[in-house]
Amino acid sequence: MSFELQRKELMATKNFIAGVWQDAVAGETLSVNNPATGERVALVPNSDAKDAKAAVDAAAHAFEAWRTTPAKQRAVILKRWNDLIMACADDLGKIISSEQGKPLSEAVGEIAYAASYVEWFAEEATRANGDIIPQAVRGRKMSAYREPVGIVAAITPWNFPAAMIARKIAPALAAGCTVVCKPAAETPLTALALVKLAEEAGVPAGVLNIVITASSKEVADVWLDDARVRKITFTGSTPVGKHLAHESSRTLKKLALELGGNAPFIVFDDADIDAAVEGLMVAKFRNGGQTCVCPNRVYVQSKVYGTFLEKLTARVSALVVGPASNSASQIGPMINAKAISKIEEHVNDAVARGARVLTGGQRLFTEQRAESTYYAPTVLADVDRAARCFHEETFGPVAPITSFETEAEVIEMANDSPFGLASYFYTNDMRRVHRVTDALECGIVGVNEGALAAEAAPFGGVKDSGYGREGSVHGLEEYMHIKYVCQGGLE
Ligand code: SIN
Repeated sequence: MSFELQRKELMATKNFIAGVWQDAVAGETLSVNNPATGERVALVPNSDAKDAKAAVDAAAHAFEAWRTTPAKQRAVILKRWNDLIMACADDLGKIISSEQGKPLSEAVGEIAYAASYVEWFAEEATRANGDIIPQAVRGRKMSAYREPVGIVAAITPWNFPAAMIARKIAPALAAGCTVVCKPAAETPLTALALVKLAEEAGVPAGVLNIVITASSKEVADVWLDDARVRKITFTGSTPVGKHLAHESSRTLKKLALELGGNAPFIVFDDADIDAAVEGLMVAKFRNGGQTCVCPNRVYVQSKVYGTFLEKLTARVSALVVGPASNSASQIGPMINAKAISKIEEHVNDAVARGARVLTGGQRLFTEQRAESTYYAPTVLADVDRAARCFHEETFGPVAPITSFETEAEVIEMANDSPFGLASYFYTNDMRRVHRVTDALECGIVGVNEGALAAEAAPFGGVKDSGYGREGSVHGLEEYMHIKYVCQGGLE
């Protein structure tokens, strides 16, 4: 690993099951590689069904004690976890950068973002109140309690290796659930480091278990089949989300699915164009464009189209691309060769349909490494509405842009997608703000704002972008069910 950690023990490389750091039962391993160089960062267990089952056994064993632990005590442990994460932010950022590639300042920013969910849910743990229901029948008292759903299986992606773990595990623990977790095979080291700190914060043995594997299906199948697992929370692709929804129906698990997006970004001609350019820079180029909420389709009203393209191209062509180790880097490598091939296919397809490349449009640093995973930040103008990049998630630093004439036309285009995660629009017309917000089919709307996610806000989509919400008060409800109690014979 090219980074020195202050706390070297954070570089954990084993599964954590029942409070014990352990190898995979079968002894298999997988290599975690730095996407910038292809070099190995660490070897971790490549777990199979036996490890997955052991994790559920541990979570089942720990559940009764954890669910009956007073909420205040669970909150204290979560607050300690938050404090430890923040105290180790630099080390954790280095671990993210080494396995995921994002620039170090952005990685450290992700740690603060992750910790904000832990802190939020530590506070929410003590506010999971039930209801006393006004008397409906003489001699009866009715009430509703909130209870933890049980064992939660959390399956997390590689693009935000810390934040997605925190956003799922913190509310689960706050609610009194126990957890089995499978982070992405590309980025398990951040997850393991966070679990190490959770252990240090006092999360009891068996409450949080983590299984690393490249055989995601084998591990997920065990959790899908096991009726003791009561909830699956997943962030990832829509096909995998649909598979989980289908397969979990056998044991009727509760589900939260945060799936693919295809966000429209609309600039009306009455907008502050500089603010719209800055908003797109933040929304599109964060994490090199590898986010579910990043704009995939940019629609600019014809009167301001030329000005917008000119200003945006100047900003995008100035972005610094490079390894996380270079403090000037703003865009790191893409996660792997497959990811970069998809970006190339999308750009080539758009160009073949008549798009103009205003900046970028190619891989970088191929003279240093033929299989370079760096892609130049790209602006494509005059993109045909049938182009692949308008319909499939590109997951890269490419802003494809087209013009439009009327509000009705752009709303129709924005909603013409099976996905419905985020949408963005820029306007200074207050009436339009309400009209367009109401008309957009999605779970999250950015109005004159490019950075949307926050621990206090509900994050999630509609349509093929999934269901369930993360963060906010709704994020805790996802891990609880309601028990209605009717006490009779009181008169
Ligand atoms: C995601 O891309 O899945 C999460 C993005 C965010 O939290 O803003």
